[in-house]
Amino acid sequence: MERILVEGGVPLMGRIRIKGAKNACLPMMAASLLTSEDIILDDVPDLDDVRTMSRLLRSLGVEVYRDRKNERIYFNSRGLNNCTAPYGPVRRMRASFLIMGPLLARMGRSRISLPGGCAIGTRPIDLHLKGLAAMGSQFTMDDGYIEAETPFLRGNRIYLDYPSVGATENIMMAAVLARGTTVIENAAAEPEIIDLASFLKYIGARIEGAGTPLIEIEGVNSLTGGHYRVIPDRIEAGTFMVAAAISGGDIILENVIPQHLTAVISKLQETGVLVEELGQSLIRIRSRGRVNAVDIKTLPYPGFPTDLQPQFMALLSLAHGTSVISETVFEKRYMHVEEMIRMGARVRIEERTAIITGQQLLQGAIVRAPDLRGGAALVLSALAARGFSEIRGINHIRRGYNRLAGRLRSLGGRVFVLP
Ligand code: EPZ
Repeated sequence: MERILVEGGVPLMGRIRIKGAKNACLPMMAASLLTSEDIILDDVPDLDDVRTMSRLLRSLGVEVYRDRKNERIYFNSRGLNNCTAPYGPVRRMRASFLIMGPLLARMGRSRISLPGGCAIGTRPIDLHLKGLAAMGSQFTMDDGYIEAETPFLRGNRIYLDYPSVGATENIMMAAVLARGTTVIENAAAEPEIIDLASFLKYIGARIEGAGTPLIEIEGVNSLTGGHYRVIPDRIEAGTFMVAAAISGGDIILENVIPQHLTAVISKLQETGVLVEELGQSLIRIRSRGRVNAVDIKTLPYPGFPTDLQPQFMALLSLAHGTSVISETVFEKRYMHVEEMIRMGARVRIEERTAIITGQQLLQGAIVRAPDLRGGAALVLSALAARGFSEIRGINHIRRGYNRLAGRLRSLGGRVFVLP
């Protein structure tokens, strides 16, 4: 089983270009089901989740061509002939559920395996179903599948009890072809929601308010095709920012949108790290020695992103002082803690709160990635640890990071993939 070998103690130096956002391109890939015309997406990173979504769309009859070298994907769903998403892809990737809204809008039905739990929590889909039911969809469950059916979707006013990213995306995609107008209240406001809405408007949808808690979608009869570039991945950018800080390095990130990272930049500066916005989508991150302890509370955007909580825990495990992290978004997003403790971190969990007592040193160790962002965090800890570390279970990391080891190596890191 492949694993990542890291020799710690080398400060990262140099420049790295941030890839397109996984969590923006996945819903856009699902949205290709909404039109029978050609869709081309640029800056789509070569990730396992993108491969999983591509395979899922192909199984529905969509023509998908991935130009990996140019990070471009071409779709055409005029041959759409199947509405069933089997257990495999849905189990591997929860974002598979994002095809429900588009399939209902385009075909009037969908049959999707229930997603099942995952490492970071139960992750229900009740808000997705609440919204789609309000638009006229009927649901039945059998054999671990949930079937949705409707003669047509009609616009409605939908309140989300929680600003769920996936539910907002599913409902928005269903609403673009519904009869009448849909209003989503307490909608998620993440940059990936704005990018999905921008893409949908680019191919003919009528959407106002994306990026605010109130989104209004006026249904249209059909959508056209288009060629669209995905926004940069703010979570990958934050991961590399921590890599620079934890290794005592000095790096420049290219292709970054600083306003997508306001909470992250502010928190990093609070730890004492130097973060400079250089203009033209460039950000410089320079370590100024041992960081200060800080407290973090994860929240829906624009709050501190839960997807960077494990990476910041790695940084704070070496801080001067004690830090407190409150994980308010997912109930179990601390699967990386036990692994970090094997490297010498001192972390105590009390329900959704982690208390981190900063240490002077971490020791290299053999650890296992519990999930995507926890795995990335362990690689970051290994960059700072004394000696060698081996991170196993790197299939999790490959879901959301393109060539993480190679790109860290390009910054001088001693990071290698072993067979
Ligand atoms: C998206 O997941 C992202 N994934 C996640 O990134 C990210 O952590 C999350 O949003 C929060 O920002 C993609 O975009 C593909 P949610 P999603 O629905 O849509 C509860 C990564 O590492 N909830 O906003 O699944 C849920 O239990 C991944 O790239 C309901 O209660 O997140 C959770 O506590 C991990 N009912 C909270 O909302 C529902 O119907 C946030 O979930 C839906 C969600």
